[in-house]
Amino acid sequence: MDNVLAYIDKNRERFVGELAEWVKIPAISSDPTHKADMQKNAEHLSAELGKLGADRVEIWPTAGHPAVFAEWLKAPGRPTLLVYGHHDVQPVDPLEKWVSPPFEPAIRDGRMWGRGVVDDKGQVHIHVKAIEAFLKTVGKLPLNLKLIVEGEEEIGSENLDALMRDKAKDLAADFVCVSDTAMFGRGIPSLCVGLRGLMYLEVRVDGPNTDLHSGSFGGGVTNPVNALARMISRLHDDDGKILVPGFYDKVLTLTKAERDEIASLPFDEKEWLASTGAPAVFGEKGYSTLERVWARPTLDCCGIHGGFAGEGAKTIIPSFASAKVSCRLVPNQEPEEIEKLVGDHLRRLAPPGVRVTVTYLHGGRPYLAPTDHPVFEVAKRAFAKAFGRPTVFIREGGSIPFVRTIADATGKPCLLMGFGQPDENAHAPNEWLDLENYHLGIKSAAYLYDELGKL
Ligand code: BES
Ligand code: MN
Ligand code: MN
Repeated sequence: MDNVLAYIDKNRERFVGELAEWVKIPAISSDPTHKADMQKNAEHLSAELGKLGADRVEIWPTAGHPAVFAEWLKAPGRPTLLVYGHHDVQPVDPLEKWVSPPFEPAIRDGRMWGRGVVDDKGQVHIHVKAIEAFLKTVGKLPLNLKLIVEGEEEIGSENLDALMRDKAKDLAADFVCVSDTAMFGRGIPSLCVGLRGLMYLEVRVDGPNTDLHSGSFGGGVTNPVNALARMISRLHDDDGKILVPGFYDKVLTLTKAERDEIASLPFDEKEWLASTGAPAVFGEKGYSTLERVWARPTLDCCGIHGGFAGEGAKTIIPSFASAKVSCRLVPNQEPEEIEKLVGDHLRRLAPPGVRVTVTYLHGGRPYLAPTDHPVFEVAKRAFAKAFGRPTVFIREGGSIPFVRTIADATGKPCLLMGFGQPDENAHAPNEWLDLENYHLGIKSAAYLYDELGKL
């Protein structure tokens, strides 16, 4: 390991430069005008992996954007680790809020700034460089390793299930590691043991065929904007509880031990609140903030539009209104079931005189790791070695659809070893990656491969 660690130290600056080159490719999966960039992005990664002498490097096309796969299987008798990440990034608007342009990565304050630096290109690159460090020093990896990097995570991994079914044999592994989460705080190595799932839908309320003069028609037909606002407002009670019948039926209640573990973390709620800029915390009664965002389900209106919102006044009855609604799910809620419950309830809530259409957009399943599995102790040890601090178990409120899919498919635990920071501005302007985390991340991955190789 000494050679490997020394190599990581010696090449620190070069690694950062190589990551920056990849970040320059604007791999925005949601924007059709970037389709060619998605291919270029995949090719850039596969070229880097090819140089590392992988036994196999392939670009796997899908009905959407391509995934990259590579494997090194020259450690007979040793376990196989599957590493997952995603190479697509979020859109960059509002562009004017970026201090430096999103696809011209800049280094300031020990951080790299740019779209995708931490979510998730930097975290994928951590593994690429850990692999390089073994191959360029020891000449081989301490275990068998497979890498899958998908191109549609930020748009709901729609073609991933089909790809994973087709490639089930290629993806077979003893352990799975995903680096696409954040650490609890600076310098605190954190294994994420739970993710929320997602159910995202659009609800549209139609009334008249066209906007009507509100003087001539107002009071005589249902106003779709009024109707939708009323429907949305009836989805929660005043204490933040979701009023959709059946919504909580399958929710796994937190155990005393889980609540104690969460409460034991050094969470600074004031600081957390300050980072949001909101004037006060608010959420479901009876739960702490961390419990609310990690282990309780939500229902949120992400956007609502309809009617006239331009300058000045326009006297109309709008012809339609629509809203995007998302639910973060916790074990054992399933997106299909929640979609039905929420959709049925929205239709029930509709006042007379409108037509309601509910369209499911995408979803992902929640994940809870079997933390009593011995591999978690191994991962804790590897992580702590790199950071020189004990590892904590955390959960995250975000979603990574792959995680549950692979855990179900393989029956193997998934290690969520993330290197972000809670205030990293993922999905927002000025996304950044802590370069110390990036560096120690490469060492953590190296230690993890080494420790798992001994099992
Ligand atoms: N890396 C995130 C997941 C994440 C978010 C981890 C917050 C830890 C904290 C991932 O890239 C992401 O943004 N996922 C989407 C998934 C969705 C599009 C299915 C999410 O959570 O909104
Ligand atoms: Mn991500
Ligand atoms: Mn993301």
